Parts: sequence; structure tokens; C-alpha cells
Amino acid sequence: MMNRLQDAFTSQRDFINDAGHELRTPITIIQGHIDLLDDASPEVAETIAIVQDELDRMGRLVNDMILLAKSEQPDFLRLETINIAVFAEELFHKAQTLADRDWKLRQHGQGVLVADRQRLTGALLNLLNNAAQHTQPHDLIELGVAVQQQQVRFWVRDRGEGIPLTEQNRIFERFARVAHTRRRSEGSGLGLAIVQAIAEAHSGRIELGSKPGHGSTFTLVLPLDPPQERSHAAHFNR
Ligand SMILES: Nc1ncnc2c1ncn2[C@@H]1O[C@H](COP(=O)(O)OP(=O)(O)OP(=O)(O)O)[C@@H](O)[C@H]1O
Ligand SMILES: [Mg+2]
Repeated sequence: MMNRLQDAFTSQRDFINDAGHELRTPITIIQGHIDLLDDASPEVAETIAIVQDELDRMGRLVNDMILLAKSEQPDFLRLETINIAVFAEELFHKAQTLADRDWKLRQHGQGVLVADRQRLTGALLNLLNNAAQHTQPHDLIELGVAVQQQQVRFWVRDRGEGIPLTEQNRIFERFARVAHTRRRSEGSGLGLAIVQAIAEAHSGRIELGSKPGHGSTFTLVLPLDPPQERSHAAHFNR
């Protein structure tokens, strides 16, 4: 029974991965043709802008699907030793380019962490981007980092609209978005599923504290050292 489930799961994952890669070719071809179009008339320019926007969205969606399909594979992570304080500073600079907000960095602790720098950056940028999307210009958004008991905690706190308790588990599911919010995101709803997959690949987890009207705090909790089997993949990747 377990084997059959595993097989079904593997074939679904392979299908998503293959379909994702196949979709990249038509996207590239459409992009090439859009680039060649003459946008002299305003109507054509307007149509091109819409098509371009949707094509960008499709491209992001395909990349996100491929990323999720890959996330369970042993070579998903490329582990390296990361200086936590330096990493947080770099991330904080990237956050500031996302939107005009009152960004604050709260550093508590230092040391090193063994993790995949790019995947970790991607996960935290997803959280920072979400915070920006659910707040107004000049609102406070905090990026925090704390080291305690062989764990590092990265948190992103906003004072935005918050998330109803009934939605707090659901939003981590693929394609899940909170309905009827003031600011509906333009994304596909894969962001938090990816953050969770990246946390779990590091044997970590994601925590959420949120209250409607008061804001949300998403915390990524990771072990400072990844477990043994992941280290194998890491050495192989180096
Ligand atoms: N900081 C936040 N404040 C309020 N709601 C949030 C916040 N972060 C996420 N959400 C809710 O959770 C939903 C899922 O978030 P997720 O990042 O997975 O998808 P998305 O942002 O809609 O799209 P994508 O990230 O794929 O571009 C969002 O649509 C939004 O309703
Ligand atoms: Mg998102």
C-alpha cells in the first residue's frame, strides 16, 4: 500500500516536473514573438501589455510548479555555511527594494548556519513580499533573526490586515488565497507552499501568528545544522 502511494506520488511529481519543463518552450516562443510586435498604435500597445503581464505570470507559475516538484528530491538543497548576521543584512537590503515601507531589521544573536542560501533567500523574500502586499506605503515591516538552542528563527512581522484563524492553516496549501480580502494578491497562491517546502527540506518549520486587524508574523525555524542524510546531498553538490 505504502509503495503504491509512493509510486503514485512520484509519478505525479514527475508529471508536474515534465509538464513544467515542456511549458517553458512555448512561453519562450510567445515571448520572442511579443518582442517583435510593432506597438505603434495605442490599442496594440495596450494588448501587448496585457499579454506580457499574463505571460510573466505564467512563467512564474511554471517555475514555482517545477520548484515544488523538485523540493522532495535529495539534491534539492545545496548546503553551505552561512554567517547569520551577514545573511540577515543582505536580505534586509533586498527587502527594501520590494516596496516603500518602514523596514526594520532586528538582530538577536549571531553565528553560522548550514543551509541553502538561495532557497532560504527565496523563502524569506516570499514572506517579505507577502508582508509588503498586505500593508500600505510607510507601514512598519520587521525582519527579525534570533539564534537559540541550536536553532535560528527568522521572522517577518507586519501590521497589516491579518489573517482569520479559519484561514491560517489553509493558506499554506497550494493555490490557496484568502477570499474577500481588501488587498487580493495577484499571485497564484504557491508562495507559502514553497516557503513550507523549503523549511521542511531543511528539517525546519514555519509558524504563523496572526490576528485580523493587527497583522501577521511568519517565523521560519531552522536547525543550525541539517540532519545527516541532507548533508550527504550537500557534499555531493559541492
Ligand atoms: N502577510 C500577510 N498578510 C495577510 N495575508 C497574507 C499574508 N501572507 C499571505 N497572506 C494570505 O495568504 C495567501 C497565500 O499566500 P501565498 O504567498 O501562498 O500566495 P500569494 O501571495 O497569493 O501568491 P504568490 O506568493 O504565489 O505570488 C495570500 O493570498 C493572502 O491571502
Ligand atoms: Mg505570496
